[in-house]
Amino acid sequence: MQELDIVILAAGKGTRMRSHIPKVLHPLAGKPMVQHVLDTAAMLNPARTQVVIGHGADQLRNALADQAVTFAVQTEQKGTGHAVAQALEQLGNGKVLILYGDVPLLKRESLSELLAQVDEQHMGLLTVTLDDPTGYGRIERNDAGEAVAIVEQKDASSAQLAITECNTGIMVMTSAQLKRWLPQLSADNAQGEYYLTDVIALAAAEGIKVCTAQPKHAVEVEGVNNRAQMARLERVYQRQLADKLMEQGVALADPDRLDVRGRLTCGHDVFIDVGCVFEGDVELGEGVRIGPYCVIKNSTIGAESVVDTHSVIDGCVAAGLNQIGPFARLRPGTRLAVKAKVGNFVETKNAEVGEGSKINHLSYVGDARLGRDVNVGAGTITCNYDGANKHHTEIGDDAFIGSNTALVAPVTVGKGATVAAGSTIAEDVTDDALVLTRGRQIEKQDWLRPTKASSLTK
Ligand code: UD1
Ligand code: CA
Repeated sequence: MQELDIVILAAGKGTRMRSHIPKVLHPLAGKPMVQHVLDTAAMLNPARTQVVIGHGADQLRNALADQAVTFAVQTEQKGTGHAVAQALEQLGNGKVLILYGDVPLLKRESLSELLAQVDEQHMGLLTVTLDDPTGYGRIERNDAGEAVAIVEQKDASSAQLAITECNTGIMVMTSAQLKRWLPQLSADNAQGEYYLTDVIALAAAEGIKVCTAQPKHAVEVEGVNNRAQMARLERVYQRQLADKLMEQGVALADPDRLDVRGRLTCGHDVFIDVGCVFEGDVELGEGVRIGPYCVIKNSTIGAESVVDTHSVIDGCVAAGLNQIGPFARLRPGTRLAVKAKVGNFVETKNAEVGEGSKINHLSYVGDARLGRDVNVGAGTITCNYDGANKHHTEIGDDAFIGSNTALVAPVTVGKGATVAAGSTIAEDVTDDALVLTRGRQIEKQDWLRPTKASSLTK
């Protein structure tokens, strides 16, 4: 098989985004647009991938530093033909596929037919038929129905403007063809640019057949020029992900109100309510229920767990049958054993919570390990930070921590121990002991409150 070069154009300014960030770095589903294109490109196993950069070149180099790509710099944007010309030097001798950093939803399947057809006598062009072709280059065909030229909107006659078959810009040819044609381009047109699209007429003139194909859905070849288009493609992409999840057996309260910015893997009969955001790698076990407006990032939630409304979970593993939230915040390093409960307004961090243990309300548990069946009362705080270092709190099985307790770490509460409400625990507590540090309650009966002094006596 012939080797493949992929050239991704990404030198344009993206003025209409009104942003300091280069257009192709704007995120779609949490990932830069150009990364979507690179991911699709990688599926084609190219020998090389070049990204043509210009505006925001340094930002792009940095953002793509760990990618298997090389860069070709286009210092002045003199048109798409001129952009591709910057990549010529590094091309191999096989086929060349031209893609665009601002066309993120293209699928590999839409390219395979074109790639298969290309040889010295054939090139490939992806076209799309649009109800409103305004702004696009139009595909001119001869009487035999062969594509023979692309005419840009600004150069088109009224007859040509009526053509609804449009150029997507995506094309494939051999490296030899491209090297032959690009030097022949001229900027003698309405925009004074070197149009890549003119290679179609050059191919036709040489008797090389331009094979065309259309994507399965027009949205695959839609480019992003402004924030509104960006938001539209985001919803399209999210809907595709939602449809896939539903096919896999996930129940979504509303497939149009789900956002996945990464990879969400679900068991059967997972239910996800409206407004949830999933980031990074998230795994939900069988029968997990996620309430409305939760944000879950890089976490695993075990089977039959319930995450109630407005919970924020990051970097956690919940073993299963867990009850989380509403309004819980689980930070990185939280490990919940089976049946552990973390309730409303509880924050955990780097905390292991044993089987069946409960932190039901208004607590902070950080840098701690709780055994099984521990009960942590409302308002309990692990004082893990001394201003310089973090310290560990250890709580044994069956311990009972009364409400409003401060556990000053490093500290250990033994198995079965009881800490009375309102205690400040700075020393270790023995197994099965009762400990209390609060002052005794004093009562004075029939207490007369002070009264205000009369103004006459002053
Ligand atoms: C181009 C096509 C048009 C097609 C349309 C599809 C040409 C001449 N026209 O028009 O037929 O219907 O795309 O969207 O190719 N770029 C560079 N360097 C440049 C110029 C452009 O890198 O000097 C990049 C841009 O960043 C952009 C892409 O090429 O990603 C397309 O350029 P743009 O100016 O948007 O082309 P259109 O006028 O839309
Ligand atoms: Ca464009």
